[in-house]
Amino acid sequence: MSSVVLIGSQWGDEGKGKITDYLAEEAEYVVRYQGGNNAGHTVIVGEEEYKLHLIPSGIIYPGTKCMIGNGVVVDPGVLLEEMEYLKEKGIHVTPDNLKLSLHAHMIMPYHKILDGLEEEKRGAAKIGTTKRGIGPCYVDKIARTGLRFCDLQNKVSFRKILTQNVQAKNEILEKLYNQKELLDLEAIYNEFMAYGEHLLPFIDDVSYILNDALRDNKKVLFEGAQGTLLDIDHGTYPFVTSSNPTAGYAPVGTGVGPTKINCVLGITKAYLTRVGEGPFPTELFDATGKLLSAVGNEVGTTTGRPRRCGWFDGVLMNYATNINGMTHLTITKLDVLDQLPTIKICTAYEIDGVKTTTFPPDLERLSKAKPIYEELPGWQTSTKGIKTFNELPENAKKYLKRIEEFLSVKIALVAVGPKRDEAIELEKLF
Ligand code: GDP
Ligand code: IMO
Ligand code: MG
Repeated sequence: MSSVVLIGSQWGDEGKGKITDYLAEEAEYVVRYQGGNNAGHTVIVGEEEYKLHLIPSGIIYPGTKCMIGNGVVVDPGVLLEEMEYLKEKGIHVTPDNLKLSLHAHMIMPYHKILDGLEEEKRGAAKIGTTKRGIGPCYVDKIARTGLRFCDLQNKVSFRKILTQNVQAKNEILEKLYNQKELLDLEAIYNEFMAYGEHLLPFIDDVSYILNDALRDNKKVLFEGAQGTLLDIDHGTYPFVTSSNPTAGYAPVGTGVGPTKINCVLGITKAYLTRVGEGPFPTELFDATGKLLSAVGNEVGTTTGRPRRCGWFDGVLMNYATNINGMTHLTITKLDVLDQLPTIKICTAYEIDGVKTTTFPPDLERLSKAKPIYEELPGWQTSTKGIKTFNELPENAKKYLKRIEEFLSVKIALVAVGPKRDEAIELEKLF
């Protein structure tokens, strides 16, 4: 295959960073297509841990070309900090291994301020955003008032668009939020001109580069951020992010046609987690939930918030399989279940006394959903270090086979630890 879209099937943090890094051994290009630095993708190689928010996780593999597509919203200051962070770890990010789309929108200082103020205003109805300015930046993109990297190439038009934005946002800050401290046009202008000096060499037409690469049969991996249930259209609205993490957006967010996608790989935890607010039918509030949280080290990579934990939800996963047109699955964190005597899979919900296997993304119905479980015996032995499917304990094989059968999607990879080599490959994707 020459192109694989890798997506989060659940509520994010499924291990997309680790699997992207694993596949980067073969992939020649790794491309982010949506989201921004709300993402936190962890890659562990040997004893070194990398936490990436914006730069594709393929950057750690020498020789991989990384791209940030037009669908991503980029905080230029964070991007420069991430380059510095990688440099300290011996990875040099240069225009040879990273390209930034001309058409990607920039997260401006006022987007971050507004993200915080909007959350505060929502009070108990807060979304639990990462406060990185993601939502307000996408709002401006859709309102056609945003600033893109191509605008850094023309100081006159950059100043003009910025002036309009600063005036409009100051009005909101003053009149709606009673803020005393307002935006300083010159300070923002100077800050962004300085970013431009550093970033202009990275700016390019990512769409052309990728289309050429795909024409030459090069291997391209599209690295999704967030997850299907956080999708603005298909997720648990309004407790979602402001982009489309689902596979259909990979072509839009990079400028390649949908006919160029060969494979959609859904990254899926062997259980389920969620950070932030919103319904979660299989959430566990008992000792098992605490065990998953502790053994799985379930703390948010970006905000450090604890992740809520629960059982694998087959209803949600069937929905995610459809929405993404998933062709293959990766099950991560199987090792986190090693100690459990029994493991549950949710196969249906009961809503208002009626059994259903259809996932209702609307809040009212979803918050009433009571999971109906199937119980499987655990394996209670370590899966660490296992390299082949056959070496896995029998009950672990049965658990994986049951998931595969329930979703009618083939498992291509299983992860049994956070490190690069802690993976079992069942099918080669590239
Ligand atoms: P992402 O946002 O989807 O890239 O996932 P995160 O990096 O935010 O969270 C996944 C966490 O699980 C990270 O700390 C990974 O190092 C870790 N991880 C990934 N795969 C495995 C696995 O198979 N087993 C264990 N124990 N940890 C894993
Ligand atoms: P990765 O790529 C998990 C969640 C936030 C919040 C909601 C909206 O690491 O899987 P936002 O800041 O995007 O407006 O917040 O989305 N969220 C994530 N949860 N993993 C992520 O990314 C997330 N990115 C955003 O917690 O509930
Ligand atoms: Mg994450």
